[in-house]
Amino acid sequence: MHYPSKNKVRMLLVAASMFLLAAGGLQNANADVKQENAVNAERVQKGKVLFSENCQVCHQEGGAGKPGVAPSLTNKELLSAASDRFLLDTIRDGRPDTAMPTFGQLLKDEEIQAIVSYLRSFGTEPVKGGMLDNDRKAMGDPRLGARWFSQVCAGCHGVNGEGYEGSGSGTAIGKSGFLGKASDGFIRYIIKNGRSNTPMRGFAGPTGMANLNEQEIDDIITYLRVLQK
Ligand code: HEC
Ligand code: HEC
Repeated sequence: MHYPSKNKVRMLLVAASMFLLAAGGLQNANADVKQENAVNAERVQKGKVLFSENCQVCHQEGGAGKPGVAPSLTNKELLSAASDRFLLDTIRDGRPDTAMPTFGQLLKDEEIQAIVSYLRSFGTEPVKGGMLDNDRKAMGDPRLGARWFSQVCAGCHGVNGEGYEGSGSGTAIGKSGFLGKASDGFIRYIIKNGRSNTPMRGFAGPTGMANLNEQEIDDIITYLRVLQK
């Protein structure tokens, strides 16, 4: 008969206990993920209810939006380009001088957070928000930007970007409610990529609506920053 040496037994015991520890850790991690998912699902459900009570009347069922009334909150470009901060602050402060109300007094922070979780549940692309917010500042020629704007954008967004309040079918991108919260990177991304399932198409490249190049897009953003002041 061959008995394993004492050393071998000790090594086996050490290996077995390491395995158990690792398995236990994995189980804990799994439980954490499950719990996290459950908490998140609950938050999304809560956000859905709050959305139907407070937002749906304008933003439509499931946040689909309606041109001239309220923008879509479910298109993948918005959800990818917008940081949580952008969404939270926009809901809290609203957009002065537009139909988008202020919810800071009506809803608690955690309720607004739940609504953002609900909106995030529609997202199909990674959230680039923070990265875009750190994108370079637009350094364009505002006079050229004004020209592009009146030729290409004003038809939908209004002569001075006044949006629905004017004759626009697009949002008030010339007003501080939007410009005060949107970074140059955010605006650049939307101009290039547009917004799925809305009249807002992408404007960059040969397949874009107007094939604007980087410099022309920066001219427009620089012009919008002039309108903001
Ligand atoms: C009375 C109508 C109305 C209600 C109610 C309303 N909104 Fe809005 N919302 C608007 C309009 C109009 C805009 C666009 C304003 C503009 O022209 O910039 C907007 C814009 C937004 C934006 C910015 C979207 C973008 O494209 O940048 C977000 C986010 C938003 N609303 C979220 C909400 C949420 C969440 C609620 C409910 C808590 C809500 N809104 C309730 C009318 C409304
Ligand atoms: C055919 C109409 C149309 C044209 C032309 C158009 N837009 Fe838009 N744009 C829209 C609509 C509609 C929305 C809101 C999308 C929605 O309903 O969700 C929008 C949204 C945007 C947004 C996001 C605003 C926000 O509230 O978050 C930006 C930025 C924007 N447009 C910039 C431009 C610029 C710059 C041009 C010109 C190069 C332009 N758009 C041309 C219709 C248009």
